[in-house]
Amino acid sequence: MTTVAPKPVFDKGLANTIASESAMSWIDGQAGVLEYVGIDIDSLARNSTFEETVFLLWRGKLPTAGELAAFTTTIQDQYELPEPMWDLVRRIPVDAGPMHATRTLVSALALYDPEADDPSTEANERKGIRLLARTPALIANFDRHRNGRDIVKPDPSQNIATSFLTMLNGEPPTLTMSRALDVCLILHADHGFNASTFAALVTISTLSDMYSAVTTAIGTLKGPLHGGANEAVMGMLEEIGEMDKVEPYVRKRLESKQRIMGFGHRVYKAYDPRATYLKTLAKQLADDTGNQKLYEMSRRIEAIMDEAVGSKGIYPNVDFYSAMTYYSLGLDIDLFTPIFVMSRMAGWIGHCIEQLADNKLIRPRCEYTGPHGQEYVPIEKRAQK
Ligand code: CMC
Repeated sequence: MTTVAPKPVFDKGLANTIASESAMSWIDGQAGVLEYVGIDIDSLARNSTFEETVFLLWRGKLPTAGELAAFTTTIQDQYELPEPMWDLVRRIPVDAGPMHATRTLVSALALYDPEADDPSTEANERKGIRLLARTPALIANFDRHRNGRDIVKPDPSQNIATSFLTMLNGEPPTLTMSRALDVCLILHADHGFNASTFAALVTISTLSDMYSAVTTAIGTLKGPLHGGANEAVMGMLEEIGEMDKVEPYVRKRLESKQRIMGFGHRVYKAYDPRATYLKTLAKQLADDTGNQKLYEMSRRIEAIMDEAVGSKGIYPNVDFYSAMTYYSLGLDIDLFTPIFVMSRMAGWIGHCIEQLADNKLIRPRCEYTGPHGQEYVPIEKRAQK
């Protein structure tokens, strides 16, 4: 007896497909709600830390004080890179794009991890910690290297945000700066089956390894329709330049059916709750650092977009105000997406471990649109052009 397979459903871009289950983050796109393990994102941004949020996502509950201290120490103990990695950082061409450098260096971590191909849950969790702990040193020190500065090693007495900013700038950040980055890391840590998480899951579902999955994800995050949008937003603000050019710029783009970066979302048809928090943070930092003009330009773009396309459910997404936030933190524009990597690493790893607990190969179909029944014509008989 032949088995009859169910007829596949055509769903372009998988926009209406639920591909698997997850207990990490929940999004209500119509109401503009995001929760991590049932806790509202705004509450986490106000009260939590990135390390605590990672614990929540990976373990499914908030830690006790003892659990958080132990978890934080476990991460900090893994900050230091395997020695050959420092050499590798120095060998990356100084004109390489930071996302190419990040993808390459994170991938190379596998070369120095004896557990790289150990598929056990325990080993995968250890690899997850290493990836989370070591990525900041790679990004910060690639930036130092391309600017001709010496390596600065991670500081295991500091949290991820502070250690990263200290490596990047060669001096400790102010409390405000460190907390601002910490909040950004919380807000970007997870977001359901976004494109990069899904890419990681496709890779891990083949029973490949964590490093391969995360490397796949970094390549996917890079695109301007996904994580790369934060850099594109800043590029747009710089291109516009002056307040009186905002309106003609936005209207012209909309008329010619071009997108305004940092707006719209596959799932949210209401205001992205991450953008709500980031808008306030961006304003505070802009006031502190004298970047009010860029902030006011952002507000003007939002007002015009609201009037023009708000009724279609197109609102600012997480990337719109995170761009201004990072800019006010003094970060180079091409580091915005690598910082997204540092944070979303938490989501990628958590989802990969969830996937492996109940794995099924992720393998959709495509609708074939080519011809059938064609004859194979020998090369000498084919029509010459
Ligand atoms: N500016 C102007 N119009 C837009 C925008 C935008 N940013 N986004 C969507 N639209 C319009 C689009 O033209 C289309 O209009 P119409 O129905 O008249 O043809 C309608 O909205 C639906 O767009 P879509 O492309 O079918 O929607 P999607 O769900 O496939 O796209 C998106 C989602 C995020 C790719 C898209 O909104 C976009 O390109 N935004 C700009 C890039 C961006 O900010 N990306 C970051 C996403 S959030 C964070 C992350 O994932 O990293």
